[in-house]
Amino acid sequence: MIVVFGATGTIGTPLVTGLLAKGVQVRAVTSDPAKVDALQEQGCEAVVAGFDDPDALAQACAGAQKAFLVTPAHIDMRQWKENVIAAASSAGVKHMVMATGLGASPKARLTFGIWHSDSQETLKASGMDWTLVQPTYFIQNLLWQADSIAADGVYHDDLGGPVSWVDARDIADVAVEALTGEGHEGKAYGLTGAEALDGAAMAALLGKATGRTITVQPVSVEASQAAMVASGMGVEVAKAMVELSTLAPKGYLAGIETTIEEVLGRPAKDVETFISENQDRFSG
Ligand SMILES: NC(=O)c1ccc[n+]([C@@H]2O[C@H](COP(=O)([O-])OP(=O)(O)OC[C@H]3O[C@@H](n4cnc5c(N)ncnc54)[C@H](OP(=O)(O)O)[C@@H]3O)[C@@H](O)[C@H]2O)c1
Repeated sequence: MIVVFGATGTIGTPLVTGLLAKGVQVRAVTSDPAKVDALQEQGCEAVVAGFDDPDALAQACAGAQKAFLVTPAHIDMRQWKENVIAAASSAGVKHMVMATGLGASPKARLTFGIWHSDSQETLKASGMDWTLVQPTYFIQNLLWQADSIAADGVYHDDLGGPVSWVDARDIADVAVEALTGEGHEGKAYGLTGAEALDGAAMAALLGKATGRTITVQPVSVEASQAAMVASGMGVEVAKAMVELSTLAPKGYLAGIETTIEEVLGRPAKDVETFISENQDRFSG
């Protein structure tokens, strides 16, 4: 049985679907009791546990052989991961696959890179076998501004440089393979798409899919941070998020990894396909 933390999120949702499609017994963990029925209807065992509730985390891990862990970007994310890793290790889980971020390292130039690195070291020291999936920026983040693109025909470029966007479904598929295939222990899989797109290229793809002219508007760090805080994000996390816009203009988010193709034996999903799948969301 595989226990999945973060099961209802951007990575977790396709991950659970992928595991169930392989006939694996899945225990999906949610902090929201209202989501239990839908998870059970999908074919999972579903349990309620908050990342800050050690007793509930211990129960969630009981009897599991493997675990997947992702937490939201949150000021407490390192403590939350530490809590889950401790619970899984104590429960005898043998192998944990954990989602962090590309470039996570003690020397990372991003706050998130350092936070993720701390969690990676915690997992490596746990005694469990481990696999890391380390994605770059999610293509699904485009949906954050779908309404305003549809309403105004403007793509707000808060990154300011080329980025090798990755589809969260590919992250999930790599994690499914790491959890169900052979030989993924001790591996760190950096995950990117196969192309780097800047704001102009993104606007062109949005325009092609919607049949409209989509213009690009740069977003200042201050405006970007204010918008994130207004949407409910904590100030420290918003500050960490906008650090991406200091790296993208230098080309540091444009590197291409071939891991998705190597692990899955198929190309990475591309931005154009995602936009066309969600065309109605971006159309006015
Ligand atoms: N977005 C990006 O471009 C990007 C790029 C690289 C790395 N990352 C990293 O990827 C991670 C985010 O992945 P994601 O988007 O898949 O996550 P997510 O959708 O933001 O969150 C995953 C799930 O966590 C659960 N959750 C929230 N608070 C909880 C709590 N207190 N206790 C237990 N569960 C809780 C929620 O489910 P319930 O409501 O069901 O509890 C949520 O669906 C972050 O660590 C981020 O740094 C993101």
